[in-house]
Amino acid sequence: MRFPELTAEEAATLIENGNTVGFSGFTPAGSAKAIPRALAARAAESHAAGKPFRIGVVTGASTGDSLDGELARADAIAWRTPYQSDKFLRKAINTGKTRFFDMHLSMLPQNIRYGFLGPFDFAVIEACDVTDNGEIVLSTSIGASPTFCTVADNILIELNEHHPVQLRGIHDVYEPNDPPHRDPIPILSARDRIGSPVLRVDPAKIRGIVRTNLADEIGGFKPHDEVTNRIGENVARFLCGEIEAGRVPRGFLPVQSGVGNIANAVLGAMGSNPGIPPFEMYSEVIQDSVIGLLRDGSITYASGTSLTVSPELLQEIYADLPFFKERMILRPQEISNNPEVIRRIGIISINTAIETDVFGNVNSTHVMGKDLMNGIGGSGDFTRNAFISIFTCPSVAKGGAISTIVPLVSHVDHSEHSVQVIITEQGIADLRGKNPLERAETIVGNCAHPSYKDALFKYVRTVEGGQTPQTLNLAFAMHQRFLETGSMQE
Ligand code: COA
Repeated sequence: MRFPELTAEEAATLIENGNTVGFSGFTPAGSAKAIPRALAARAAESHAAGKPFRIGVVTGASTGDSLDGELARADAIAWRTPYQSDKFLRKAINTGKTRFFDMHLSMLPQNIRYGFLGPFDFAVIEACDVTDNGEIVLSTSIGASPTFCTVADNILIELNEHHPVQLRGIHDVYEPNDPPHRDPIPILSARDRIGSPVLRVDPAKIRGIVRTNLADEIGGFKPHDEVTNRIGENVARFLCGEIEAGRVPRGFLPVQSGVGNIANAVLGAMGSNPGIPPFEMYSEVIQDSVIGLLRDGSITYASGTSLTVSPELLQEIYADLPFFKERMILRPQEISNNPEVIRRIGIISINTAIETDVFGNVNSTHVMGKDLMNGIGGSGDFTRNAFISIFTCPSVAKGGAISTIVPLVSHVDHSEHSVQVIITEQGIADLRGKNPLERAETIVGNCAHPSYKDALFKYVRTVEGGQTPQTLNLAFAMHQRFLETGSMQE
């Protein structure tokens, strides 16, 4: 191979304090692992010697422990975007040690190309194959890697033999031109292939290859429970009703499903509901539940930007790769989450809320208005442009001490103008065509937990006049009570 072979430690010495680095990874799938870990060790050594070492870290989305965890523990992250889900990094962000700015995931690559985030010094990319002329076969995600390689001055590759070279062909790499030269993105269905199976980079930028054999650091999901099963059944019931009413075509529409335990359970419930025909996914993350549904034919095709499945399941996929390559495609996040495509092909979006208010505004990112949980991810890309946008959540959190239906969200990510349906284990609130007071009656009546219903009805029914029944000095009384007593209950 014409590129220098380096150890992870040697590669890490090329990156300087203050550099901006784009790391591959969208969820822990396809995340760089060895070089960030070596960088964390380098940062710890520098700090012990009284020297600064902190870098700007940009990825596709969240990553694994060897990237966000190790670097956060070593206090090596000066700033971070666009999404994370690591408990150490979350703490660094919420205590003000690391500057974090949240971003719609579809917008990250173009914002980088437009120069909004400044110059990029390095791209650190995990691959399963690379050729001398600079053709990279990525591993289990694409995320923003094509753009990192386009803009960065230097590229380092983690060549990870844990992933088979036969993954070649699962990726579809396409980077749009920037305005005023952008063309329509020619995707008319979830299955359309528009780009290249490899990422082509300028070989002169490749500074070295680090050979690894490391699994993606993907944790399992919580087992489905009664609440998540009921949420899933309610989503399936709602969608069956839409087919019966003739609003959703009998052949169905492509589905986007969010991240996390609830989304995983919802997809499982949809797959097992006989009223829902086999469907395609045009989504961001391909999670565990999709794999079984692809096998049994409930899902006929899955388009995403990452294959985020538990290690055992990934091995099953690798053992049967031809079957899955016929039914799966990985795209850059700029394309998997592209508003133009989402609006055109008519996606049913299903995402999870942290809290929703009685008018339909949704908070996906902050706890008690202040502390970041993970980030907006792709939920805004899909919700704003969906054929039908659905949010799900359990009606209570933290054993009932928190109502997820509140008078006014303590942070807003998705406004009442984008959110069409809210579903909890209690029931379904269809907000389409309803004014704010009607929405409030429907959300509280159908979705709130019985132990919070009276308080919420009292809130919305005591105001007279106005378009939106809001009492400003009481809007956050439930949150305030939680902060003072540990429970929102009166
Ligand atoms: N107040 C405080 N904490 C809350 C809460 C609320 N209103 N609602 C949920 N939580 C806590 C839960 O208690 C749980 O905490 P724990 O980890 O300490 O047990 C945690 O949030 C996760 O909740 P869970 O019920 O397990 O749901 P999840 O795994 O499905 O995650 C989100 C829910 C909202 C955090 C997650 O979906 C997310 O990050 N969404 C934003 C990004 C997104 O939507 N991406 C999809 C685009 S494709």
